[in-house]
Amino acid sequence: MCGIVGYIGNKQAAPILLGGLEKLEYRGYDSAGIAILDGEKITMEKTKGRLKVLSDKIHGGEDLKGTIGIGHTRWATHGAPSDINSHPHLSRNGRIALVHNGIIENYLQIKALLESEGYTFVSDTDTEVVSHLIDYYYNGNMIDAIIKAIHRIEGSYAFGIISVDHPGELFAVRKSSPLIVGLGNGENYIASDIPAILSHTRDVYFLEDNEIVWIKGADVKVLDVYKHEVKKEVFHVDWDVSAAEKGGYEHFMIKEIMEQPKAIEDTVCPRIQGGNIVLDDIKLTKEQINSLKKIYIIGCGSAYHVGVVGKYVIEKLTRIPVEVELASEFRYRDPIVGKGDLVIIISQSGETADSLAALREAKVRGARVLSVVNVVGSSISRESDDVLYTWAGPEISVATTKAYSTQLQAMYLIALHIGINNGKISEEEKEHYLAEIQTIPSKVGKIIEDVAPLQNYASKKYGSKDIFFLGRGLDYCVALEGSLKLKEISYIHSEAYAAGELKHGPISLIEDGTLVIALATQDSLFEKLLSNIKEVKARGATVFAIAQEGNTEIEKEADFVVYIPKIDNLFAPSLTVVPLQLFSYYVAVNKGCDVDKPRNLAKSVTVE
Ligand code: AGP
Repeated sequence: MCGIVGYIGNKQAAPILLGGLEKLEYRGYDSAGIAILDGEKITMEKTKGRLKVLSDKIHGGEDLKGTIGIGHTRWATHGAPSDINSHPHLSRNGRIALVHNGIIENYLQIKALLESEGYTFVSDTDTEVVSHLIDYYYNGNMIDAIIKAIHRIEGSYAFGIISVDHPGELFAVRKSSPLIVGLGNGENYIASDIPAILSHTRDVYFLEDNEIVWIKGADVKVLDVYKHEVKKEVFHVDWDVSAAEKGGYEHFMIKEIMEQPKAIEDTVCPRIQGGNIVLDDIKLTKEQINSLKKIYIIGCGSAYHVGVVGKYVIEKLTRIPVEVELASEFRYRDPIVGKGDLVIIISQSGETADSLAALREAKVRGARVLSVVNVVGSSISRESDDVLYTWAGPEISVATTKAYSTQLQAMYLIALHIGINNGKISEEEKEHYLAEIQTIPSKVGKIIEDVAPLQNYASKKYGSKDIFFLGRGLDYCVALEGSLKLKEISYIHSEAYAAGELKHGPISLIEDGTLVIALATQDSLFEKLLSNIKEVKARGATVFAIAQEGNTEIEKEADFVVYIPKIDNLFAPSLTVVPLQLFSYYVAVNKGCDVDKPRNLAKSVTVE
């Protein structure tokens, strides 16, 4: 997510903005900038790279004079990291400056409208359209212009706005992206998150969607879209800075688990338009799709586990053979891959050494590379022929959760896109699948609403020596991820097995009290999985099962059951993984582990 800070008062704004942005650095970013309203003009500086580059360039803010301003740290979604793509963005006459956190889903349509009105654009961002759009509607009343602009915009946003036509005033508005107002003594602030202003004030307004902030000198007004004043409760923040950085959560991991509904929605919804899949960023033509001979999916760790799900989903929807491989193996095995093959590289960081090497290996052999990446402008994204970005926002915790979940959606989107274009998905199936995939955010939201049963069960099981995960079909794919999540943050030995493999060896490991986590969401395989549960129970195992709501038969065999909301079996992995993330998290917390920074692990493995 990007970071926004705004200041209006009687002190020099630039140093305050830089200090606020520094407190938001933990959110992850690739560029930064500030704009200051100095009487009759806006002065601005923005740069790619760390905040220090910006601060050094403006001598700690000394170079930009003025007591009103807005600042921004950018996590790129549209437009690679660069000086010109950094925020703030100016309107064409330089009279309005704006910073943005979120995604403008219909920015291409708005851009076309504005270009037809003679507007020109200097950046590749979605955000720039908004500064011009407000200018387009501006006729002397900034609130009216903002209201007209947000009625045209589709997507998520938190905006900070200043204008030379409104000296002494600061504006803001939000929808889906967080924004707060900091209430000081004769000075006020706006910010994406509490840490940015905690050193100045602990009294804040939490803004709701479509609430417009109008700060004039020391006077703070919050208006609705009908320009009626909204009475806001002052919230006094009693968190410490560390807790504030995690939005009040104890760890980034639980915060990022809770962010999954929005991360999934941000990744999927902009790509379903008018009942069709719209993948602007993929230039694969219909002809190329119809001549595809084979698809490879390559990644490491959790990214590889996404590929294991991807294989099932893409083969089912496209009937094209899919091979999924560990990048560290693919790169050294002289793979039989070449022209006419599609290689999908999955990587949250876009910098994993083995995955980058596998990408280069595939390209040298003539394959087309499509990468699924969370970091815009990362090495893997820059060397790919096509990139399908996940819009999960920065993922700080080493153990991936929301990036994994959004990568899963990318698999569904790619499978649907190819299956629709190569005729393997009928119109009726397309409607069904598009309807189902759009229910995932709310269904994930339902699961994370009530974590108590999992928290309680984890408090009973965190002393386990070994924990086994079992599943069949797509449940096996998710079992792999559940086992990795558990072992990497709790250090408990864990294995995941295709349940049908039990009798080929692993069942000899089952002893009295061994915890087995059985995933049973696939209707066609449920009876077989139930037999596997009976087999391990007969040997003394304790079974924690996950099943779809309504399938209460599982309770006859399992000792503890968590249900996921009903969903087409194909999409169940998006839901099944969430209880496993939560269970692993609470087990690790009970063990007192360093959840966000597990021993020996790094967030991005940029070396072999
Ligand atoms: C997942 O929780 C781990 N942190 C690790 O397996 C990770 O998925 C793997 O290192 C791949 O990283 P990437 O997605 O950035 O390429």
